[in-house]
Amino acid sequence: MKRIAITGGAGQIAYSLLFRIAAGDMLGQKESIALHILELPEAIDPLKGVIMELKDCAFPLLQEIHIGSNPEELFKDIDIALLVGAKPRSPGMERKDLLRENAKIFIEQGKALEKVANENVRVLVVGNPCNTNCWIAQSFAKRINPRNFHAMTRLDENRARAQIAEKANVLVKDVSPITIWGNHSSTQVPDYLNATINMQPVKDRLELKWLQETMIPQVQNRGAEVLKARGKSSAASAAGAIIDAVHDLYHPTAPGEWFSSAVLSNGNPYGIQDDLIFSFPCRSTGPGEYEIVSGMEWDAFMQQKIKTSESELVEERSNVRNII
Ligand code: NAD
Ligand code: LMR
Repeated sequence: MKRIAITGGAGQIAYSLLFRIAAGDMLGQKESIALHILELPEAIDPLKGVIMELKDCAFPLLQEIHIGSNPEELFKDIDIALLVGAKPRSPGMERKDLLRENAKIFIEQGKALEKVANENVRVLVVGNPCNTNCWIAQSFAKRINPRNFHAMTRLDENRARAQIAEKANVLVKDVSPITIWGNHSSTQVPDYLNATINMQPVKDRLELKWLQETMIPQVQNRGAEVLKARGKSSAASAAGAIIDAVHDLYHPTAPGEWFSSAVLSNGNPYGIQDDLIFSFPCRSTGPGEYEIVSGMEWDAFMQQKIKTSESELVEERSNVRNII
């Protein structure tokens, strides 16, 4: 049985995520599940309603549900922590504008992981700004290997893949994974250079001008577009990306495939400075294990943009050092 902590259990993302985890979409149909759901005290009542609905689904794999507001209780014995609970941005804000308010959540949860979690726990940070919140959490949990921490850029990858498939008039499955480089922010770089459509380079199928001037900004700003249209930030697609991200980390990566995840940059093959949570192409090397895929090429356009995203992460890290 896998014990999975989910924070922000009464929030929008959780309302989709919890049901998909319990249905076995994340870890497969053979793995039974215990949910450890964390919420603020004021949101425990609505969370109880969500739990009633989870029970009413009679999911065969769902064996235990624990809820509460104390991470030091809920994080005991967990295998996976999905750190979702945090404030979402409002229209007009950048994700990094949330740092001052959300950083304290990841300080507290990093300390709780340090104190009580199994040292093999895998942690996926979703609450924004997720790369820097992940950097905070791992820096307060030094007992846990920092390689076990990820911040989520899978939603951006899924967005890029869907947009390229639509433009090329092919199925999403015909498009290879698209690496997201850097920060989950409007400086992220969706990679058009190393991606293929039915084994043919994307740049041979689609105009370079569209890839550089339309696809990249559309993916960079998709979160803001959804927020503007819905009045709330993306939720079902974010939950879907969490399912994909954890699924792909725990299952073998097919030859020639990879997935995007923001991980500790130390020793990376692309010359990105150490001690950043930076999104790279990754492959699973065993359940919960990964390596960064080397050998991807950058052109001058991508190089300049990737450096901008690296600089933004350096700046967020130094801002956070002042806060903590
Ligand atoms: P939401 O406001 O609907 O839900 C957040 C929930 O977290 C609330 O129920 C709140 O009570 C709870 N919460 C707040 N602080 C908490 C704490 N310390 N411990 C436990 N629970 C706590 O927000 P949402 O739409 O579910 O989004 C959650 C976060 O995910 C936001 O920061 C959002 O920006 C981010 N997000 C990231 C991605 C990504 O791709 N990385 C995608 C979508 C959303
Ligand atoms: C997203 O990419 O949809 C999330 O990070 C939410 C946001 O604020 O854009």
